[in-house]
Amino acid sequence: MSSLDPSALQSQPVAYIAGPDVDAQQARAIATRIHCGEPLLLTRRGSTLGWIAPRQAANLPVAQQIRAAWLASQPILLPDCVHDQLTAHERHIRHSLRLMDAVLNGEELTELLEKNPYAMRLGSRFEILASSEDEGDPQEIETLEFDVLDHGEIIAENLWCKASWLSFEDDDDSLRFRFSFGMANYEDVAADVERELHAAALAEAVFPESTIITESSTLDTLLKAALEVPALAYVERIVYFNAPNGGAQFHQDVERGHLGVVFAQVHGRTGWLSLPKQSLLDEIQSFVTDANCAPLETLLPESESRLQLLKTCANRSALSDWLDETDNEPLELLLNRCPEFAQQLIEHGHAFILQPGDVIMLPQHDLQQCAWHTVFCLDDYTGEALSFAVRTV
Ligand SMILES: [Fe+2]
Repeated sequence: MSSLDPSALQSQPVAYIAGPDVDAQQARAIATRIHCGEPLLLTRRGSTLGWIAPRQAANLPVAQQIRAAWLASQPILLPDCVHDQLTAHERHIRHSLRLMDAVLNGEELTELLEKNPYAMRLGSRFEILASSEDEGDPQEIETLEFDVLDHGEIIAENLWCKASWLSFEDDDDSLRFRFSFGMANYEDVAADVERELHAAALAEAVFPESTIITESSTLDTLLKAALEVPALAYVERIVYFNAPNGGAQFHQDVERGHLGVVFAQVHGRTGWLSLPKQSLLDEIQSFVTDANCAPLETLLPESESRLQLLKTCANRSALSDWLDETDNEPLELLLNRCPEFAQQLIEHGHAFILQPGDVIMLPQHDLQQCAWHTVFCLDDYTGEALSFAVRTV
């Protein structure tokens, strides 16, 4: 196998152990028998997909492998890449977990950020203007608006920090803090690099552990080699707190002007299924074509939904378009709630386990060439992770 072959990264560091019907003791026995580490359950919002386990310690890929994988829209795991910086940020991470807990307990973000250490770090540079809650967005908890000041003069306006739930489920406490500006989800953010950089600095003032990514010389070197750019910036920052039973459904993060996303685990562990969109289409088509009807009948008891899935999957272009739509329930169920489909993805090498200090890079070239991904909390406590978009400057 050539060292430039992106599939070299797919050496299956994660093993499939068993389906959701197997209990922890049985899973442990299977994992031991096949010389794997601790079995971990992929479960999210009432859907349990099965047990996985680390098969071997993954190595840091070399720059040429990363470049080839990046061009092929493959997710790229960088084990231990930022591990050395975790100790220096222990206190910041502890503060952030406390902030997350306080928001979870209904405390107002405005009041929390007006106290130290936040007030001190926001200083005279970031002025809190207003707090609001968008009634039309049931996932939103609170949005704080900021101006940026330099010697008392406003130099940037309408930056925000938005705290949101990751789901509508009562038994999923996952939440995130997103930093951006202007009209959420409408603005061409990449066109205003100045404000993007101010929003990035705001994220760093609230979550100083952001420098785990931004000041990592290893990550900087690897990313520049992968992207073949002389300089880059980390923008559109999101700090995730994935709670037990939580995580993110399958999605992509394509955004005009951004090249991809880097995600660093700083506390707790997450499980991932991730692969290029074109590979995901292959996996869906082969699963639906090959599956004996049993998994699909359980997943989609209504024959109408089943037929819609079978019919659309027969046409790759129609399936590709359907994947990009938001209203695609039969497909969404297959992607997120079908243990047999998850098993296929895991057995084909598309699963990853992120420990504190690990980074995963997710190329996002365009809607056709991007790494799709889904995330699970692997612990019985809430973890923390940093998810930053990458752009040239
Ligand atoms: Fe994402």
